[in-house]
Amino acid sequence: MKTVSVRASRPYEVKIEAGLLARAGAEIAALYAPPRSVLIVTDDTVNALYADALTASLEKAGFGASRFVFAHGECSKHIGTLGEIWNTLAEHKLTRSDLIVALGGGVTGDMAGFAAATFLRGIAYIQIPTTLLAMVDSSVGGKTAIDLSVGKNLVGAFYQPSLVLCDTDLLATLSPEIYADGCAEVIKYGYINDPTLLGMLETSFADAPEAVIARCIADKRDLVEADEHDNGARQLLNLGHTAGHAIEACSNFEISHGSAVAIGMLLMARAAVKKGLCTPDVPAHMEAMLRAYHLPTDCPFGAADLAAVALSDKKRKGATLSLVVPQKLGQSVLYPIAAAEVEEFFAAGLN
Ligand SMILES: NC(=O)c1ccc[n+]([C@@H]2O[C@H](COP(=O)([O-])OP(=O)(O)OC[C@H]3O[C@@H](n4cnc5c(N)ncnc54)[C@H](O)[C@@H]3O)[C@@H](O)[C@H]2O)c1
Ligand SMILES: [Zn+2]
Repeated sequence: MKTVSVRASRPYEVKIEAGLLARAGAEIAALYAPPRSVLIVTDDTVNALYADALTASLEKAGFGASRFVFAHGECSKHIGTLGEIWNTLAEHKLTRSDLIVALGGGVTGDMAGFAAATFLRGIAYIQIPTTLLAMVDSSVGGKTAIDLSVGKNLVGAFYQPSLVLCDTDLLATLSPEIYADGCAEVIKYGYINDPTLLGMLETSFADAPEAVIARCIADKRDLVEADEHDNGARQLLNLGHTAGHAIEACSNFEISHGSAVAIGMLLMARAAVKKGLCTPDVPAHMEAMLRAYHLPTDCPFGAADLAAVALSDKKRKGATLSLVVPQKLGQSVLYPIAAAEVEEFFAAGLN
């Protein structure tokens, strides 16, 4: 088993091992002595695959387990589902010594985490991420949120989990597309600041993913610890995301998040080389890497459309936008740019 310790405002451990789901009850009991009530929050797909095993493990450890199941997908990540979770917690009479367990991908984790942050002004929650993206990204760092009709992740809280359990066996049932989406985030860490990870990714990590997943989590942990509330170094995690979000939006969310981030990263690398900010070897290296992990590299939209979306993003501060640009292999930097120059910068990455 690999363990990554996170020292955020609430310290916690991330454990990574094949077969961990069956031991989840014992792992949780070591932190929170039973008897206690646990509400498992999960979507319908993950419920059918893994919730019975989790319930059995929790009950064996002495917990009382109930379940809240919602329809899978981003379209459930809204105030209506959150309200149903709150009501379920109240109906099952959970108290502040009880627990929420988020069993699922990033949608489940974000929503269950926000329910935990707010129900009774905060009860403990445990993440059991079931997608690669959730393991390496959304389950670590304490960002929780729901979407509004005008935009994603607009209402939420910083609220740290008490424990994260990554069972790598659960990745086996992911569709190739959803697995590839997670690979985009894995690859991202390499180009942000981890040349060693780039080396590890030269051969596929699918058969033995623990080391790569642990390394990504440690990379995110280091950035989050330096800047828990996202005012500085943590923004490096947005590599490929400013352009990526614009690509997702321009496609009416037909292009998945990971695919959009892949295209966005390469666009930034190409633009950075054109602007003299980056060594010329990065774009070809990145393009080969993305292709090896079955990710797209061509941007179907023009710079004007992308810039229009990027400039309406909530992360924008005043008249400047903080872009993340690769500098050399395994190193990126924050690059503040005037709003008026964003379109031209994107254009440089497109041709
Ligand atoms: N909080 C953060 O820091 C953070 C960071 C990145 C992304 N996010 C959020 O994460 C969400 C995206 O996460 P996601 O891609 O995991 O989405 P998701 O939770 O919707 O999961 C994707 C799909 O995979 C299915 N699935 C999950 N695990 C499975 C398994 N083991 N086998 C088979 N199918 C499985 C789900 O049912 C779902 O249909 C977005 O809402 C995004 O905003 C949050
Ligand atoms: Zn992302």
